[in-house]
Amino acid sequence: MTLKHPVGAGDLQSQHKILFVTPEMSDYVKAGGLGDVAAALPRAMRRHHDVRVLIPGYRDVLSRHADIPVIGRLPAASGLPACDLGCVETLDGLTVYVILCSELYDREGSPYGDGAGSDWRDNDVRFARLSLAAAEFASGVADPDWCPDLLHLNDWPAALAPAYATWRGTTTRSILTIHNLAYQGLFGQERISGLGIPDCAFHLDGVEFYGKLSFLKAGISYASHVTTVSATYASEITTPEFGCGLEGLLRIRADQGRLSGILNGIDESWDPRTDPHLASPFDVNDWSGKHINADHVRQAFGLAVSRGPLFAVVSRLVHQKGIDLTIEATETILRQGGQIVVTGRGDVRFEEQLRKLAAHYPGRLGVRIGFDETEARKMFAGSDFLLMPSRFEPCGLSQMYAQRFGTLPIAARTGGLADTVEDGVTGFLFEEASLAGLLSAVYRAVDTYRSQRRLKHMRRAAMKRSFGWERSAKQYHMVYRRALSSPATA
Ligand code: ADP
Ligand code: GLC
Repeated sequence: MTLKHPVGAGDLQSQHKILFVTPEMSDYVKAGGLGDVAAALPRAMRRHHDVRVLIPGYRDVLSRHADIPVIGRLPAASGLPACDLGCVETLDGLTVYVILCSELYDREGSPYGDGAGSDWRDNDVRFARLSLAAAEFASGVADPDWCPDLLHLNDWPAALAPAYATWRGTTTRSILTIHNLAYQGLFGQERISGLGIPDCAFHLDGVEFYGKLSFLKAGISYASHVTTVSATYASEITTPEFGCGLEGLLRIRADQGRLSGILNGIDESWDPRTDPHLASPFDVNDWSGKHINADHVRQAFGLAVSRGPLFAVVSRLVHQKGIDLTIEATETILRQGGQIVVTGRGDVRFEEQLRKLAAHYPGRLGVRIGFDETEARKMFAGSDFLLMPSRFEPCGLSQMYAQRFGTLPIAARTGGLADTVEDGVTGFLFEEASLAGLLSAVYRAVDTYRSQRRLKHMRRAAMKRSFGWERSAKQYHMVYRRALSSPATA
C-alpha cells in the first residue's frame, strides 16, 4: 500500500485519526478567516496525522461535487433530524465528510444566515446537528471504518460535540479552537430539550450562560483542551475586557494548562511572485509590478491618478474591526494626500455610511460592498497601507496577507495583530483603538511614505516575514499529543 502522505518512520507511531469539524472551509464557502484556516490547517496536519474534515452539506458544497457517495445514516435524535453522511475527496486527496440534510443546509446564503445578513432562525438545530454528527463519529456509529482518536472542533457551531460525546459515554478526547469569543451561539433555555441536551447539564459548570444555552461554553466546559489563534488573545480572553463573560472559566482552563494560543498561518497561494490574480507579479527586488497593481486598483475603484499613499480596507464591516474609526479618520487621511479603497460587507449601517462617503469624495475614496477574494488579493498587492484598527483581533489574516504583498498594516496592538506586526519594522501599531490612536499611526505611515528609502526598507522586511503553517502545525501536534494522553474530562 502506498501512503498518500509519506511520513518519517518515527512519525508513524504517533499518527492518529483526527476529525476536524468546521462550519466553513474556503474550498467551498468562506465567511471570514476560519474558512481559510479550515482549508489550510488540516492539510498542514496531514504530515503528522490522518486528518479528515466534517462539514455541513451547504448548497456550495453540493454544487461542487456532481455526486456525493453516501457512506452512512445518522439517526434522528430529539428535535434533530436524521441525515445521510456523504464522503468526498478533494483533488489533493483530503477526505471530507459531508452531512447531507437539505432541510437544514441546502439554502441560498452564507453558512450562518440569509443574503440580507440575518442569522438563520434554526441555527441551534443546524449546528447541534453538526456537533452531534462529530460525537457520533467519536462513538463509531458514523463511519464504521474510521473512528477518530481526537475531535478538533472549531468555534461555537461545533462546540456542543464534546458535551454530546460525554453525555453518550464516549471518552474520545477533543480540542476546541476558539476563533472568536464574541460569537458564542446563545439560545433560549426552552430550546435544550429539542437539541437533546439533558436538563441536568443546564447549570453554571455545564452549558448555561446567564440563563441561556451557550454552545461555546459547553465546548470550553467539556473539551479536553481549548486553543485560540494567537498567544496574546489567549491571555487577553482571561480578562474581563476581552473575556465576554467567560473570563472566569477561561482563567481556570489557563491555570490547568488547558488553554493555549497558537497563531494561524497563511498558505502558499499568497505570493506576489506567482499569484495569478494580480495585474502583475512582483518581488522585493523589483517594485514596478507593485506600481502596476496600484494603477489597476485605482482604476478599478474609480480613483484619480495620484502619487500619494493608497490605503486599503478589506474587512467584515463590523464593530470589532473598528470600521467606525476608519470612517472617522477618512477626512484626515484624504487631507494628507491619501486615497482609500474599501471592500467589505457587514452591518448595513457601516455599508450605508461608506457608500455616502464614496459619493462625497469621488476619485479619492472607492467602496465596493461585497465579498470578493480576487479583488481582495489585488488590493493587498496594489496598496501601500492596510487599515486594521480592530478593537480586538483573535488572530487576523488580512494583516499577514498584506505584509506578504508589501502592504504595511496600520493596526491596533491587540491579539494576533500584536503578534504578527512589528511596529516600525513591518507596519505601524497603536496602543488604543480610538480615533486619536489610529491617526497617530496614520501620521507615522504618511511620514514613512515620504521617504521612499524607508518605505522600501519596511516593505522588504514585511515581505520577508514567514507566516507559514508548518510552525503552527507543530504546535497543534503537541497539543493533540497532550490531549490524547490527558485523563477523560467531566
Ligand atoms: P475575520 O475572520 O475576523 O473576518 P481575518 O483577517 O482572520 O478576519 O480573515 C478575514 C478573511 O476574509 C481574510 O482572508 C480577508 O482577506 C477576507 N475578507 C474579509 N472581507 C472580505 C471581503 N469583503 N472580500 C474579500 N475578502 C474578504
Ligand atoms: C476569526 C477572528 C480572526 C481570525 C479568524 C481565523 O474570525 O476574528 O481574528 O483570524 O477567526 O482564526
